[in-house]
Order: sequence, then structure tokens, then C-alpha cells
Amino acid sequence: MKFSTHAQSLQASYIREILSAASQPEMISMAGGLPAASLLPVELVRVACASLADNRQLFQYGNSRGYQPLLETLERWQPESTQPWLICNGSQQALDLIARALLEPGDHVVAEVPAYLGALQAFQLSGAALLPLLSSAAGPDLNQLEHYFKTTAVKLFYAVPDFHNPTGRVWSAETRIAVAGLCRHYGVTLIEDSPYRQLRFSGAQLSTVSELYPEQTIRLISFSKTGFPGLRVGAMSGPAEFIALAERIKQATDLHTGIPQQVIIDRLLNHPEYPKHLVQLRQGYHSRYQHLSAELHRQLGAQIEFDPVEGGMFIWLSLKGKSGAQVAARALAHKLAVVPGSAFYEQEAAPEDCHIRLNFSNTDTTLVEEAITRLAKSL
Ligand SMILES: Cc1ncc(COP(=O)(O)O)c(C=O)c1O
Repeated sequence: MKFSTHAQSLQASYIREILSAASQPEMISMAGGLPAASLLPVELVRVACASLADNRQLFQYGNSRGYQPLLETLERWQPESTQPWLICNGSQQALDLIARALLEPGDHVVAEVPAYLGALQAFQLSGAALLPLLSSAAGPDLNQLEHYFKTTAVKLFYAVPDFHNPTGRVWSAETRIAVAGLCRHYGVTLIEDSPYRQLRFSGAQLSTVSELYPEQTIRLISFSKTGFPGLRVGAMSGPAEFIALAERIKQATDLHTGIPQQVIIDRLLNHPEYPKHLVQLRQGYHSRYQHLSAELHRQLGAQIEFDPVEGGMFIWLSLKGKSGAQVAARALAHKLAVVPGSAFYEQEAAPEDCHIRLNFSNTDTTLVEEAITRLAKSL
């Protein structure tokens, strides 16, 4: 059997591999980007799940665009936007549909690095060439971004402006305005991937970049971080012409996302206690973050540093010159799973990175002290 060149070039996800190691006995995992099992809103959908079997229609084929009541719920959420939605199997499928709809082999995609590997993989599968955009606590390097836009025919700019994976960073209001301006000026399509946006611990929500640049932004949302990752429901909105094309590609890919899981998400979003669930989730993750942050400072002191985060699920921990890959490998031997920074770069371009990503949403607080003791041994 002869595999396609693009498929062969697809790198294995270190995170998927480490997640299987993370299930070994006595392993403490800070590796995945999972919601806390205890905070999954199962009680809010218990009745909806039990009554699914009463409606046989929900087990028939459905529309590729999505389950109509869920589409209407999403429209009610964003009354100011007239852009249509397409329901996908998680936002990961949205990335795949975007790549199929817009990318030709050799097209250039700018992505902030380090980056969510699943997005890079989706673009690589279409044969796109990635242009890495450096970013810091101050945001993406706008000079480099403009340089790319000026000197290369950039097709897409992929960004996670809210609680980025893996760095946890948030773009300032000024950065959002500047990026929207640059994309508009150079006619570049922006993908705003925002699965963590709802997980803000406190403070006011900043405007989405898609609000500032609606004509050429595709916005991705996910119900994996606020609802249930196992149901695989996410959505994307964007210009009507693009969504219509993505719908046709989705039809060719999987016909439609399963209806029962869309019903469950719709009932969740419309449950009178859903806003309370979001508050509990934010508070729960905030206190887990504070606990981990305090423990890191207490046990590791000057050996590490990290920027405080205002939401999301991750701490991007600088090991101050020590190799993230070596520390992660030693941590695994001490039965602690963490992801090395190098896992968030395209394989050929992976630098010798001195970070590890720590997840705080899914780590049992009673295990945090022991986890950091194991990390201290690994350092
Ligand atoms: C930045 C980012 N985008 C997309 C996804 C995919 O999420 P899902 O397909 O579960 O919606 C993830 C998952 O962790 C992510 O971190």
C-alpha cells in the first residue's frame, strides 16, 4: 500500500501518546487539556439523555448544517452577528474542513508558535507550508506578521487569542484591533479558534477578533471545555459563502454530526442552570490554578518562572534553560505526565524548547503537592 506524501509527513501527536502513558497506575497526569471530571455538567443533561429514546426522529439522518434547534440557540447567543453557523465534530473538524476548503499544497499559513498541534496537523494534511509567528507575553510579533503578509502570499492566519494553548496568553484589545487591521489591509483570512474563551476567571471579556473583521474571519467554538469533550460537538461561523462550501465538504466527509449529541448540547446551553455551571467551572479552575501556582513557587522557587494566567487550562512553565523534553522524560520515569514545549512546534522546526505545559483543570488538588515534588525530582 502506498501512502500519500502528506499523510506520511503527519507527525504523531506527543500528547495523544503521553495520554496513554498517563493512564498507567500511580501516574499523575498534568498532560491533557481535559475538563475536570467532577465539574462535567452531567446533572444538567441527565433528563435530556434519559428522554432521548422517546423521540425516534433524533436517531434518523439529519442536516449537514446541524440540528436546527442548536443552530437557533447559537444565533440567539450572537444576535449582533448575521453570520451562519456550521455544527462540527468538535472544533478539530472545523480545522479540517477549513483546510480542505481553502488550502492548496504549498499555500502559506501563519500560526503563532508554540501552537496547538491539532491545528498544525490539519493544515499539514493539506500540504500547506507553515510560517511560525513568534509571540510573547505582550502578544504576537506584529512586525513579523506584517513582514509575512508583505513578502509572502499568506492564505490564512491561525490564532487562539483567548487563553492560548499551550501558553495561556490573551491578546490585548490593542492587539486585536491591530491584527484585524493588518488582515484587512492585506486581505488575509483569519481563523479565530476560541475553545477556552468562556473560561475567564474574572474581569471583562474582550471583543472577539471576528467582531472587528467579520468579512474574512472564521470563528471556531467548542463545547469540549465547557460541556463534554466526548460528545465531539463544536461549531464554526464565518462568511455565508464559506460556510455553504464547508457544509458541502462536511457532507462529503461524514454527512452530519450525530444528532443525539447535538440535542444534549442544546439542552445544556438552554438549561436554566447553565450560567451557574459556567460560574462554578471558572471558580473551580481559578482555585485549581491558584493552588498549582502557589505549589510551584513553594517547591521550585527560582528554578522556574511563568506568566500568571487569567483563564483557560494551562500554565506554560519556563524551566530557565533546562530542556523541556529531558525534564518531561524524567518526569515520566517519576510517574508524572507533562507535555514538553517542543511538542507544540512543527517537527522539523521544533527548537530546543525550555518549557513544559502543565494542565491545572484536570489535576486533582490533593495530588498537586506530590506532582510538584515529582517535578522537583525531575529538575
Ligand atoms: C486551541 C484548540 N483548538 C481546538 C481544539 C480541539 O477541540 P475540540 O475538537 O474538542 O473542540 C483544542 C483541543 O484541545 C484546542 O486546544
